[in-house]
Amino acid sequence: METVKAPATSANLGSGFDVFGVALDRPADVIRVERASETTIEVTGVGSQYIPEDPDKNVVGAVAEALDAPARIRIDKGVRPSSGLGSSAASSAGAALALNALYDRGYSRSELVPIAAEGEAVVSGEAHADNVAPALLGGFTVAREGAVTTVETDISLVACLPEIAVSTRDARRVVPSRAEMDDVVHTVGSAATLTVGMCRSDPELVGRGMDERLVTPARSELITGYGGVRSAALDAGATGVTVSGAGPSVLAVCYRRDRRRVAAAMLDGFDDAGVQARAYQTSVG
Ligand code: HSE
Repeated sequence: METVKAPATSANLGSGFDVFGVALDRPADVIRVERASETTIEVTGVGSQYIPEDPDKNVVGAVAEALDAPARIRIDKGVRPSSGLGSSAASSAGAALALNALYDRGYSRSELVPIAAEGEAVVSGEAHADNVAPALLGGFTVAREGAVTTVETDISLVACLPEIAVSTRDARRVVPSRAEMDDVVHTVGSAATLTVGMCRSDPELVGRGMDERLVTPARSELITGYGGVRSAALDAGATGVTVSGAGPSVLAVCYRRDRRRVAAAMLDGFDDAGVQARAYQTSVG
């Protein structure tokens, strides 16, 4: 038997749509695998009632098939589905690591990224690596056309998860298909600033680099209370705020000393909008 803990992740970070990702040091899924003649899946934990156990419909079924590794797979969800915190990626990445070890397949963590991304295709229709890359490799990751670069960093974050669901498919439908050159230039500048900030573990640069006008404005409309939560976090000391992944979680970057205050302000912001929420005080893991 193999047991793996697979972390939540946040993709995009505003300016790095479908490219940037970070591993979070909480919450996490726990995946247990045992050899079997055919794959079966049991799901427990947060939001498990919404997750199919049919291997053809569950992300880990695709991973088991890609590794030719049939197993009894038990997933204890710590990362809520449709949260914007890489729930499916945590399960995919955890299953890829566990099955790779169980069957001695010998793949490196980097080689497992495209295999785990196959699982992502089951839920979003496309094989994104921006959540599975940090789930497997940790730190801040830049995933572009099959190549992944990773950077270790020390950045504090608050991920605030409201009790609403936004599916990745719906959140991708609102992304504009065209952009103005001014907005593209602005986004490139932000992405470069954020990357330097991660390399320097500098929350000011990371926060400034989250600013983006291409994807976040349309997506934030899907999150009840987003404007108020964002303002509250910035007033409490956050250096930047954006939508986490496809939403509805809202991600704030801050100095470690401000994390508790930022988390409380974000919860108050959702409360003012009549939405219950949970805040994870976390950091890039
Ligand atoms: N980059 C993806 C998105 C993450 O924002 O749609 C969710 O898979």
